[in-house]
Amino acid sequence: MAGEKRIGILTSGGDCAGLNAVIRAAVFRAAELGWTIIGIKEGTMGLLSRPLQYEVLKTTMFSGQVMRQGGTILGTTNKGNPFAFPMADGSTKDRSAEIVGGCHELGLDALIGIGGDGSFAILRKLFADSGIGLVGVPKTIDNDVGHTEMSVGFDTAVVVATEALDRLQPTAASHARVMVLEVMGRDAGHIALAAGIAGGADVILIPEIPYRIESITEKIRHVRSTGRNFALVVVSEAVKTQDGSAVHKEFADGQKRFGGIGEYVSDQIANATGAETRVTVLGHVQRGSPPSWRDRMVAAAFGVHAVDLVAEGKFDRMVAWSDRQVVDVALEEAIAHYKVIEMDEPLVRTARGLGICLGD
Ligand code: F6P
Repeated sequence: MAGEKRIGILTSGGDCAGLNAVIRAAVFRAAELGWTIIGIKEGTMGLLSRPLQYEVLKTTMFSGQVMRQGGTILGTTNKGNPFAFPMADGSTKDRSAEIVGGCHELGLDALIGIGGDGSFAILRKLFADSGIGLVGVPKTIDNDVGHTEMSVGFDTAVVVATEALDRLQPTAASHARVMVLEVMGRDAGHIALAAGIAGGADVILIPEIPYRIESITEKIRHVRSTGRNFALVVVSEAVKTQDGSAVHKEFADGQKRFGGIGEYVSDQIANATGAETRVTVLGHVQRGSPPSWRDRMVAAAFGVHAVDLVAEGKFDRMVAWSDRQVVDVALEEAIAHYKVIEMDEPLVRTARGLGICLGD
């Protein structure tokens, strides 16, 4: 055993299913090595608070339900960049030194950051010259982190979106309607494409392919000509309107987030075809359910491998899924490559082969 180590672990950015399964796996692997895992509360916020917000994680805390639960027992945040932290008076302040100082106060040798590309970029900058080794674990329902086939949470989100289509189909058929399902995914259409194929969609709109309403209406007319009275349309949240504008919803705090493209496309379809349309915006339901078996399995492999990387002294690495197994890649490369859907991907060919309209 290479001497006792203290490893911090935190979840950062939007939550998803499978985060607790990663934490559990890391705690179990560290226990095998006789090491201590310290759970930092609410991402880097726990390291900005004084007293520091953390908890020593024991295997006994994970004996029951925790690995089966969505969310994160540590809490998370997708606000408060520590290099430009928003202060009460409206100014911003560089608070990065407080975070690194907090890690030293806890006596951490290494930190496992469970996050997406945005969180990894911040964590790399924070810990570059700190003497604290960083290992990343990719999580996001969007599955847009580069150099990994799977990020934790993606599979469950696809299961939820597919189930939504399963539930929409009978009501669509009963009322002869066109049902539009808006799904999350940021600037990558992975959830829409996978769930659309699995859920029998007629039209799948993804941010990577600009759509023409004529192409969608032609598909719906064709569906009707075959004697079918309903259609299912999946729209990814970041799809732009035909004139190239992103559709956002403004929140009370002034922040803009994706939302509304489903409604927009639905109106266009209704106007162009005379069909009765309805819209379902799936939203955070995609993030909140118990993790699928695949997310739990990937989470377990990621958590164990992350601790093993610390044991080997391999830092600034991200655990990744490739060809049915866990591997690791340079964090820098993973961040540099935002993973969108490529036009020559097999799944795009599958969709086209099924006659699904991709909007072009
Ligand atoms: O990145 C994950 C994600 O769920 C995106 O798909 C979505 O656009 C965004 O987070 C929603 O963020 P929030 O939780 O802040 O509403």
